[in-house]
Amino acid sequence: MAVIAILGYGTVGSGVAEVMRSNKDIIESKAEQPIDIKYVLDLRDFPGDPVQDIITHNYDDILNDGEVELVVEVMGGTNPAYSFVKSALLSGKSVCTSNKELVAAHGAELMRIAREKNVNFLFEASVGGGIPIIRPINRSITSDRIEAITGILNGTTNYMLTKMETEGIDYDQVLKDAQEKGYAERNPAADVEGHDACRKIAILASLATEKTVNYEDIYTEGITNITTIDMLYAAKLGGTIKLLGKAGFEDGRVWARVSPALVKNDNPLSMVSDVFNAILLKGNMLGDVMFYGRGAGKLPTASAVVSDIVDAVRHKNINLGIKWSEEKQEIMDIDDVNVSKLVRVEYSDKDMAVSFVKKLFKTEDILETEEAYDEFAFVTDRAKESNINARLEELLNCDGINGILNTIRMEG
Ligand code: HSE
Repeated sequence: MAVIAILGYGTVGSGVAEVMRSNKDIIESKAEQPIDIKYVLDLRDFPGDPVQDIITHNYDDILNDGEVELVVEVMGGTNPAYSFVKSALLSGKSVCTSNKELVAAHGAELMRIAREKNVNFLFEASVGGGIPIIRPINRSITSDRIEAITGILNGTTNYMLTKMETEGIDYDQVLKDAQEKGYAERNPAADVEGHDACRKIAILASLATEKTVNYEDIYTEGITNITTIDMLYAAKLGGTIKLLGKAGFEDGRVWARVSPALVKNDNPLSMVSDVFNAILLKGNMLGDVMFYGRGAGKLPTASAVVSDIVDAVRHKNINLGIKWSEEKQEIMDIDDVNVSKLVRVEYSDKDMAVSFVKKLFKTEDILETEEAYDEFAFVTDRAKESNINARLEELLNCDGINGILNTIRMEG
C-alpha cells in the first residue's frame, strides 16, 4: 500500500482525486499496489464533499507523517510550493507536480535532492498537460541528438487564436471563455504574454541539454498584438498564426524563444487547434516526431500527474535518474538567431513604400487584403534578427511609409 497526500484541491488537485477514484483498478494494477490518499492540504473547507474527511490546513501533518511516502504538489506558484516540496524530498518523500513555475525555477535543485535521498521528483504534467513528453525525452528519445523542439505549449492562447481565426470572436470574449473552461492561469497574463509557454520551453530545453536553461534568459513575446488582419495575411500565405515555444540545438549552440509565428499549412503544428498542444521534436536520427493532446484542463492534466504517481510508487527508493544538472546552459542572444518575418506596412504613398520594401528586403511579393486599407504586407528574407530589425528601422525612415503595423516571425 502506498500512502500519499495532495497539496491543493483546485482544478488539478480535484482532478487527481477524480482520476484516482474513476480508474482505481487500472491505476492500482499498474502501480502493483493499492494507493491511499490520506490527506488533502487546502486553505479551504469543502463541506458536503467526501474530501472534507481528509482535508488538513496544516502541512506539518503531512510532513511529519512517516506513512506518507509521496506528496502530490498541485498548488501552483513557487511560494509556498517550493518550501513544501523541498522539505518533502529532504524527509525522504517522493514528489509529483504539475507546477511548471516550480520546475522551471527550481527543478535542477529538487532533482538533485531527490537523487541524494533516493526518491523521485516527477513533473510530467508541467509541460503539455496530458501529453506524455517529459518521460519520452528522458526515457525514449535517448539515442538521438535533439536538434530542435517546437511546441504549441499553451492551451489558453491556442484556444483563443483558433476562435479568433475561425469564428472572428474578439480577444476579450474568447479569453473569458477560456478562463471559464479552467484552461487559463489564475493571472491570464501568464498565458497571453507567453510566460507560461516560456517556462515550458525552458523545461524542455533543460531536459534536451541536460543543463539548466534559465527561463529568464528566453526572449518572450505573447499574443496580445495579434489581430484578425494578421490572420488574414497568414491565410493568404497558406498558413495560420500560433504561439510557439521553440528551442534550437546546433553545433553546440542553444537558442530559445517564445513568440507568435506564422506556421504554413504543411507543418503539422498548423493543424493543432483549440486547447490542444503539440510538441514537434527533431532528432538527428529519428527525424521529426510529434506529441499531440490536451494541453490544459482538469482531467488531462490530472491524468499526467497520476501517471507520475504510478511511476513513483513502483520505483520506491529507486531514483529514476532524470538528466538535468544545476549547471547553467548559456543561450544565444536572440539578435543572432536567423529569422524571416511577415511585416505589415502602413503607407501614405503606396508606390514609394513598395519600392523601398523591394530594395531593402529583396522581395517582389507584396500582399494585400480587402479588409485593411492603406497597408500591405511582405515577407523578409532570412537573416539575423538584428539585421532584419536594422532594415525595418531604415524602412521606417523612408518616404511614403507611415509605420510598421506588426511583425510576425515565419516558422521554419
Ligand atoms: N494555462 C495553461 C494553458 C494551463 O493554458 O496551457 C496548462 O499549463
